[in-house]
Amino acid sequence: MAKDGEKSEWKDFVWNPRTREFLGRTASSWGLIILFYIVFYLFLAGLFALTMYIMLQTLDDHKPTWQDRLSTPGLVIRPHADDTFEIAYTIENTESWDMYARALDSFLSPYNDSVQAQKNHECTPDQYFLQEDSGDVKNNPKRSCQFNRTILEECSGLRDRYYGYQDGKPCIIIKLNRVIGLLPGKDGQAPSVTCGAKRDDSDKIGEMVYFPPNGTFDLMYYPYYGKKAQVNYSQPLVAVKFLNITVNEDVNIECKIIANNIPTGTERDKFAGRVSFKLRISSNN
Ligand SMILES: *[C@@H]1O[C@H](CO)[C@@H](O)[C@H](O)[C@H]1NC(C)=O
Ligand SMILES: *[C@@H]1O[C@H](CO)[C@@H](O)[C@H](O)[C@H]1NC(C)=O
Ligand SMILES: *[C@@H]1O[C@H](CO)[C@@H](O)[C@H](O)[C@H]1NC(C)=O
Ligand SMILES: *[C@@H]1O[C@H](CO)[C@@H](O)[C@H](O)[C@H]1NC(C)=O
Ligand SMILES: *[C@@H]1O[C@H](CO)[C@@H](O)[C@H](O)[C@H]1NC(C)=O
Repeated sequence: MAKDGEKSEWKDFVWNPRTREFLGRTASSWGLIILFYIVFYLFLAGLFALTMYIMLQTLDDHKPTWQDRLSTPGLVIRPHADDTFEIAYTIENTESWDMYARALDSFLSPYNDSVQAQKNHECTPDQYFLQEDSGDVKNNPKRSCQFNRTILEECSGLRDRYYGYQDGKPCIIIKLNRVIGLLPGKDGQAPSVTCGAKRDDSDKIGEMVYFPPNGTFDLMYYPYYGKKAQVNYSQPLVAVKFLNITVNEDVNIECKIIANNIPTGTERDKFAGRVSFKLRISSNN
């Protein structure tokens, strides 16, 4: 008996024909609950979409919203040394240096005077090329300054298509990594690159010549406003030509950026603002 009662109680709970309740609730009660949840979730989804929308409105495609304090930019050399940062070849063996010359050819191709004249603007040297936005009026796209390949003279690969590799006076090209908003140099003093021998190689490095003169990065190439705002930006370059480097020996070289407002090799990053590499030029003579 008791069992039967339990069973019918259970059945009644699932569907009670007397009160017309399903799982203890009437159809209208269920309807209200379902309606409530539909409205509730729609509301949440709407809130999420609205928050997202407002967020995206405040982001500017053309400049980073948050940027850490301006870091010291890294230096990069070309031709691309492998992971060991070593450039090694034999003067008499054309194949051992031809790849370096080809790498420089393709690296410098976008700097051809004709290309630069087409893409970029002739700026006033020795001063920053500021193109700030005025309030909400965006000054985009921003123009960029010409860096003509011919500035690199003997290291341009135009007059000497092997960049000096064929006579043991190789050119190395140095560029400063892009940092948005960086204004290197203070009081109108342009930043420059200087190279020297490391450890006890100073008697082997020989004389060097820089292009452009003094190895400077002209102020007109700064500040950099970012890839979206400044689509045609060409990073300025400095070339170093080693005129009398000792052959058949490893020479360890370090180049660094000199700017009165960029600290090099800080505690935080020993390699900031500098690059090291090894040159080994062999000769059978
Ligand atoms: C740049 O100039 C070099 C040498 O004149 C030429 O071989 C190369 O095709 C040029 N590249 C572009 C992109 O114009
Ligand atoms: C770069 O080369 C082009 C073409 O020869 C020339 O018109 C322009 O004045 C040069 N720009 C600079 C900054 O020297
Ligand atoms: C970028 O270069 C292209 C040609 O390659 C030119 O048509 C365009 O005007 C340049 N843009 C700016 C902002 O200088
Ligand atoms: C190179 O540096 C020297 C000494 O700092 C300076 O007298 C000379 O004017 C500079 N040359 C150029 C082309 O900037
Ligand atoms: C080249 O360097 C050697 C020492 O490595 C030196 O004896 C020689 O005088 C230098 N030549 C020039 C032109 O500076």
